[in-house]
Amino acid sequence: MSDAVNREANAVVDSGADGADLEVLESEPAFAAEVFGSSIEKARAYVQHLATTGVEWGLIGPRELPRLWTRHVLNCAVVAELLGDDDVVGDIGSGAGLPGIPLALARPHTRFVLVEPMERRVEWLTRVVEDLGLENVRIVRARVEDLEDEEIFSVATARAVKSLQVLIEWVTPVLGPGGRLLALKGASVQDEIVKAKRAIKRFKLTQPVVHELGGTALEVPTRVAELRRH
Ligand SMILES: C[S@@+](CC[C@H](N)C(=O)[O-])C[C@H]1O[C@@H](n2cnc3c(N)ncnc32)[C@H](O)[C@@H]1O
Repeated sequence: MSDAVNREANAVVDSGADGADLEVLESEPAFAAEVFGSSIEKARAYVQHLATTGVEWGLIGPRELPRLWTRHVLNCAVVAELLGDDDVVGDIGSGAGLPGIPLALARPHTRFVLVEPMERRVEWLTRVVEDLGLENVRIVRARVEDLEDEEIFSVATARAVKSLQVLIEWVTPVLGPGGRLLALKGASVQDEIVKAKRAIKRFKLTQPVVHELGGTALEVPTRVAELRRH
């Protein structure tokens, strides 16, 4: 693994010019080993990538370091319980690999495609996926709207990518019959569902089911709106 991965587990990133504003990487919660099982070493390596080059390349803000495990990596990984080994998952607008990489680590037998249009982010993802040796992950540089007829997913995941309404318009064409959209949303999930009512009907999706995942282990549970294509 790369030098970045081998850096100290508690990386400290200097986010201020005078070195006064230090952000300390959150310690690994005990829950992480349970979620990642045999992939825990790779999950640690991924966190190190995020905390070092991820911050340097501007893919994640230094202020996220004190909550990197809980609010980002584990918050995404808990969605693994909604996936099966036979799924082909498109992670739309993957950015720094969220939620795609934590999910691929938690579900090493499920295939993932990280869809991301920005060149620099794709380059970072490529290096990280290679470094972690993730054989169940492929990266596609594209806008999801341009993938119709090229990729078909049984599940599409998306976090912090547009409103639910826009996601439905973009993503439904790349879902196979019975395919599911799993939209990771915050407290606004019910409002977004109301606003997406017409799109849900137009694209013939089932009424959304909202899952709250992470139980008591995560301070803020992960809310996922699940919609299925008829
Ligand atoms: C706010 S970031 C979220 C990144 C990541 N999902 C996360 O939770 O940290 C939104 C991402 O969506 C990507 N994006 C924007 N338009 C897109 C499109 N049309 N198709 C796929 N991805 C898109 C952006 O390049 C960016 O990486």
